[in-house]
Amino acid sequence: MTNKQELQKVMERLESDAQSLPLARSVKDIVPAEGNPQAQLMFIGEAAGYHEHVERRPFVGPAGKLLTRSLEENGLKREDVWISNILKVRPPQNRDPLPEEIEAYRTYLDEEIQIIKPKIIATLGRFSMGKFIPDVYITRIHGQAHRVEWKGRKIIIFPMYHPAAALRNQKIMEAYKADFVKLANVLQTLIKQSEPGNTDDKTAISEENQTNLQLTLL
Ligand code: URA
Repeated sequence: MTNKQELQKVMERLESDAQSLPLARSVKDIVPAEGNPQAQLMFIGEAAGYHEHVERRPFVGPAGKLLTRSLEENGLKREDVWISNILKVRPPQNRDPLPEEIEAYRTYLDEEIQIIKPKIIATLGRFSMGKFIPDVYITRIHGQAHRVEWKGRKIIIFPMYHPAAALRNQKIMEAYKADFVKLANVLQTLIKQSEPGNTDDKTAISEENQTNLQLTLL
């Protein structure tokens, strides 16, 4: 089965599970992930907002427009990346996700990651960061690639501020924009490393390249 078919199956299961999932009454409440099934870069946000709930697509409101523009400004295209969320629904009044809600939706997101195997996952905000790197402040670790162990393999996580936070605060906007430039650079380096003739595999980074990439090993 291709990645596209496998992801389609996951999204179909998510939709058919709707009635038993928290904050969803029917499939109309579900906001599936979307993007390129072969993406090298994946974004994980927090949860759907008003616009996402209406359109049933992730990151299509003001925060999503900023994300799309940031991609373009850094030579990337929205249709080339995978865009997902911790919760595939909209919490009431856009409140923070609860632990049991995060747990209920975890299986779909985990499967997306395992199917796509992106070179790098950019987490948007503290909830998606906390999935991979718990008990740290985003102010301390944003804008650096972190190699973490996840389900028995090494993956690269790039924590970023949430674009909605950037829209609310000019200082965060500056950090968010600077981090986006770094993210695009790290992605380019990872792509170069995995080109034919390079012996590195797609999840491992050689010791000498770690400095290059400014990787922080937790
Ligand atoms: N904020 C998120 O975290 N996800 C979306 O899809 C939209 C806004």
